[in-house]
Amino acid sequence: MITIIGSGKVGGDAALFSALKRLDDQILLLDVAKGLPQGEAMDISHMLSEQGIDVKVNGSNDFADMKGSNVVVVVAGSGRKPGMTRMDLLKINASIVKSIVENVKKYASDSMVIPVTNPLDPMTYITYKVSGFERSKVFGMGGMLDLSRFRQFIHEATGHSRDSIRALVIGEHGENMLPLPRFSSVSGIPLSSFLPKERLDELVQNTKQVAAKVIELKGATVHAPGNAISAILESVLRDRKQVIPVATYLDGEYGHSDVTVGVPAVIGKNGVEKIIELNLDEEEKQVFDKAVDSVKGAISGIEI
Ligand code: 2OP
Repeated sequence: MITIIGSGKVGGDAALFSALKRLDDQILLLDVAKGLPQGEAMDISHMLSEQGIDVKVNGSNDFADMKGSNVVVVVAGSGRKPGMTRMDLLKINASIVKSIVENVKKYASDSMVIPVTNPLDPMTYITYKVSGFERSKVFGMGGMLDLSRFRQFIHEATGHSRDSIRALVIGEHGENMLPLPRFSSVSGIPLSSFLPKERLDELVQNTKQVAAKVIELKGATVHAPGNAISAILESVLRDRKQVIPVATYLDGEYGHSDVTVGVPAVIGKNGVEKIIELNLDEEEKQVFDKAVDSVKGAISGIEI
């Protein structure tokens, strides 16, 4: 069973995409708001019914119902409003995520946990520490979403099929995000063969800023994060071993310890099965180290 805690728009979309992909027989939407997860589950089930898809989607306000889950996605918390950075949500969401993770520990201690709540990297740290789960079992969804945006910008700039484009974004899911043109390509052909450096720099900037733009225009980002969650779930539940950037706890990798930040990892049925260490150049390393400092600064200010 997949449990999604937080039944707002992103949680609902994650359930919807996961059901359409038939990632599990059962999906549970959990939320403290009375009626919301039940209504969302009904609405999704009516759609699945027309499509002839027999995935069971339920809604509940009772954390005990997550018993037996193999994966728990944590989306609950305040969302980013226009003009806010993700880090502005730190204090308010830290206590929400802490109490949710206590419940995950109580009712689904054998599960994996995928935090999505912002600020993503500190929330992943809290989840890892409060759960006491193995580090391979806790990984945050941020880079997958960021790379879908980078990929879109590369598609727009080159005109080549999205399907041919591979993009990689690591670092903080926040101000110190690190889109990596050097590790992105069109069917394996380096981006520098298609676009000059100044244009690539622009795409990097756009990737970092575009979520704020969507939030300014429509109030929230919904479909891209909902889909990115289902993409990670797919790699776990089908044991696809895809290489996906996730926020994970570093223990010496990239020269850092006791911090969670986005790095490429092999994602399969055991969660993070391997962290891939890239050979970053000086400029990239500077941004990556800044991301680590930013996350460390944030987590040092919260009581866990
Ligand atoms: C996003 O990048 C706001 O973190 C959220 O869509």
